[in-house]
Amino acid sequence: MRNTPPGDTRMRIVLHTASADAREWHAAFNRALPEADIKLWPEVGTHVDYVVAWKPPAELFTCLSGPKAIFNLGAGVDAMLRVPNLPAGVPVVRLEDAGMAQQMIEYVTLAALAGYRECATYAEQQREGRWQPRPRLAKSSFGIGVLGLGVLGQAICAALAPWGFPLAGWSRTPKTVEGVRSYAGSSALPVFLAQSRLLVCVLPSTADTRDLLDRTHLSQLPHGAYLVNIARGDVLVDADLIELLDTGHLAGATLDVFREEPLPPDHPFWHHPKITVTPHISAMTLIEDSVAQVVAKIRRLEQGLAVTGIVDRDRGY
Ligand SMILES: NC(=O)c1ccc[n+]([C@@H]2O[C@H](COP(=O)([O-])OP(=O)(O)OC[C@H]3O[C@@H](n4cnc5c(N)ncnc54)[C@H](OP(=O)(O)O)[C@@H]3O)[C@@H](O)[C@H]2O)c1
Repeated sequence: MRNTPPGDTRMRIVLHTASADAREWHAAFNRALPEADIKLWPEVGTHVDYVVAWKPPAELFTCLSGPKAIFNLGAGVDAMLRVPNLPAGVPVVRLEDAGMAQQMIEYVTLAALAGYRECATYAEQQREGRWQPRPRLAKSSFGIGVLGLGVLGQAICAALAPWGFPLAGWSRTPKTVEGVRSYAGSSALPVFLAQSRLLVCVLPSTADTRDLLDRTHLSQLPHGAYLVNIARGDVLVDADLIELLDTGHLAGATLDVFREEPLPPDHPFWHHPKITVTPHISAMTLIEDSVAQVVAKIRRLEQGLAVTGIVDRDRGY
């Protein structure tokens, strides 16, 4: 730990990233904000103006005072809000898109088209040496439901629209999104699920959404439905998904996020024939885009202007 020399009036920032590329993040922030004194955790002074962090350790907040805002280097703030010493009353600002929406669009489009064009079935037929064309599915029968109509959910809907699938979305508060049948609140969930032949989950992990995708709700999807989870692992009840895949109610699942990451070697998801596993890569946090967004917001705050993306701690996102 190092204290700031007396007379140094520069803006002070402490940066914590969990990744091996911490030095790359540090260099990018230094380039974008050359007037600031930016320290890479655990090198910090006792007073900082801004904390910029992903999954910070609890000690980070015990030895600092005075941050004007805490920037979360991700769209989801579930890990940040769990940090025990997170100072009360300091705004927590999350990333909004920052290059993640395009990546999510690619991931979901791939899964949606693979489901609609029955890629898994044809792969199985190929393994069996079987030439067996199947009837074309009517697009009208392949509704896509997006759980979460926020920054990422709406971008996914907009990108899927030209493919011609019926689109529906579910959120906490009512939304008007062109080309998307919108549903809000838990009372509307069964009707929304019943029309989702492919369900895309892009909800935040909160007290209200944890374990949401359980046996009851997954059973409300139509027979032969697919699940794509790119949100957080704890929104899904793993055993209930496996049960519904094994009974044949669900046709498949593409999972990018898990309760425990890395996914433990003995987890049944790894070798389930109807599950595709990816290692939390549906949307990477891009250094240049993220730094540009955070720095633009710091500059606004320094001018006394409002910023978007402030987390409602009570709501959990
Ligand atoms: N896999 C990855 O690599 C990755 C990358 C980025 C993000 N994510 C996940 O994606 C999540 C969404 O990101 P975002 O930027 O789109 O967030 P966002 O803009 O805050 O959108 C969240 C959406 O979820 C809805 N929602 C929240 N709680 C709800 C509830 N109880 N019932 C119904 N709807 C609810 C919100 O409803 P309202 O609109 O009514 O508020 C909103 O539409 C993140 O929190 C993160 O967990 C994952």
